[in-house]
Amino acid sequence: MDRPGQTTHFGFRDVPLGDKQTLVNDVFHSVASRYDLMNDLMSAGLHRVWKDIMINALNPPRGDAPFALLDVAGGTGDIAFRAAEAAGTGFRATVCDINTDMLDVGRNRAVARHLDQQVSFVEGNAEALAFGDRSFDAYTIAFGIRNVPRIDAALREAYRVLRPGSRFLCLEFSTVDVPGLDALYDFYSFNVIPALGRAVTHDEAAYRYLVESIRRFPRPEAFSDMMRNAGFARVSFQRMTGGIVALHSGWRL
Ligand SMILES: C[S@@+](CC[C@H](N)C(=O)[O-])C[C@H]1O[C@@H](n2cnc3c(N)ncnc32)[C@H](O)[C@@H]1O
Repeated sequence: MDRPGQTTHFGFRDVPLGDKQTLVNDVFHSVASRYDLMNDLMSAGLHRVWKDIMINALNPPRGDAPFALLDVAGGTGDIAFRAAEAAGTGFRATVCDINTDMLDVGRNRAVARHLDQQVSFVEGNAEALAFGDRSFDAYTIAFGIRNVPRIDAALREAYRVLRPGSRFLCLEFSTVDVPGLDALYDFYSFNVIPALGRAVTHDEAAYRYLVESIRRFPRPEAFSDMMRNAGFARVSFQRMTGGIVALHSGWRL
């Protein structure tokens, strides 16, 4: 339940909790058509490596055993496609995202890659999923959870829809603690990325929000506690690329 007057972060701004989702939706409506190109440019292709590490951890079955993945905040489908390409014939993925523009790009990409039978796209909010209890074999969320206003609610929903014995994996930007790299990363984040955003999407503010939201996201230890509070067991995380990104893992037992 939201408290009257409750605020949250939208990048470095404090905003009413009830306003954040609309502001986030405006960002992704604005950048949807250039989202994938920007990911490659901003990360120099590194997001592909991080996503492959997530798929290795997911380790979807290679045979014909049924396996249902829910990829939340799945946007243009990157995680679901990579999982489908690594998996066997029993694999199905549902990409759930709140933004129809991101989903439309994803649907077109699925057709182009001949993955539209294995991967379906559904509009929905991570905080209130329209899926039954214990209905998925894995839940993934990549670069999505920091955009969700009520992270606790999203984690509780993730736990609810997972079958006992199945895994939650979250890939998210994290905290760079390597001396030297932190200053370089700050310079790149606050100067280069917004300028790239302006040049490629004509929306500098959207990319300023993205870098600011990274800095407001809890440190990996604190996010691990949030996962435990939602019920997850065997919680762990793995830092990558000097802490630019972390892969969080937990199990519903
Ligand atoms: C940075 S993109 C990540 C897309 C994709 N997972 C990837 O790794 O390329 C963040 C996505 O989160 C989605 N999103 C934001 N708030 C959401 C919410 N409450 N529920 C579901 N999706 C949400 C946005 O629409 C956007 O598509």
